[in-house]
Amino acid sequence: MLVTLKDVLEIAEKRTCAIGGFNGPNLASILGVLSAAEELNAPVILMHAQSHESYMPLEVVGPILLREAERSSVPVCVHLDHGVDIPYLEKALNLGFTSVMYDGSTLPFEENIANTQKVIRLAAAKGASVEAEIGVMHGAEGSVDHDEDPASVYTDPESAKEFVERTGIDALACSFGTVHGIYLKEPKLDFDRVAKIRKLTGKPIVMHGGSGVSHDDYRKVIARGVRKINYYTYMARAGADNVKKHLAEAKGTVLFEHIESWAMEAIHDDVKKTISVFWESQTPVV
Ligand code: 13P
Repeated sequence: MLVTLKDVLEIAEKRTCAIGGFNGPNLASILGVLSAAEELNAPVILMHAQSHESYMPLEVVGPILLREAERSSVPVCVHLDHGVDIPYLEKALNLGFTSVMYDGSTLPFEENIANTQKVIRLAAAKGASVEAEIGVMHGAEGSVDHDEDPASVYTDPESAKEFVERTGIDALACSFGTVHGIYLKEPKLDFDRVAKIRKLTGKPIVMHGGSGVSHDDYRKVIARGVRKINYYTYMARAGADNVKKHLAEAKGTVLFEHIESWAMEAIHDDVKKTISVFWESQTPVV
């Protein structure tokens, strides 16, 4: 069934767990993620990232995501990920997305607040939820070639408090050691920072760059207030690796539908393992 981000975050708060937000720039990802969530009977967030527009236009993927959410046996939120242009975000809301992320994280603080307030008004008119970000996350979903120091742009807890109070967002994306894309070094997360932001804001915290993080670290951030974890690159790589393996072993003709089904099978398995950890109930430390 189609639900809002606020709905799934309430479930996560009651259980002290996180709900996975997975990008779906192709059908193999969308169907692989949904079937994994349904097998575990866990809610899920299906996301379209603005940066994936060239792989999958919003007008094409929006109706697919919404229809699949409506006929699913689990609660599914349809979310716009990293919307950087307000008109693009409005298009998603008009299509029926139940949640949007406004990403003004690279803008000056006051401009980020003013734009987020505007998005809050647009979303409220449609009954949709809003996630927004302060602090900057390096890289992009699926990026493989960045090596910045994430500590340079960590979220400041006091600014997070002011941001939340002045905008009234439903969920806060923060930077505390993860990056989007492939990790070139093992991520070192600042757990005290997550706990402090959670304590000061009282809001569900969103961890971006979730793929490639250890299961132990998932448990630790969930115990400290993370309620949504965005996950993409490593599931996409699992899909591609399975395709490579089958192509190397293939004796006869290979058709495109075979490639898609190999990708979907591996995405499904990777996401199922991941949701199993997110869905565990943790003991809160804040
Ligand atoms: P990864 O692709 O690094 O898992 O990050 C996904 C994400 O944060 C989408 O917003």
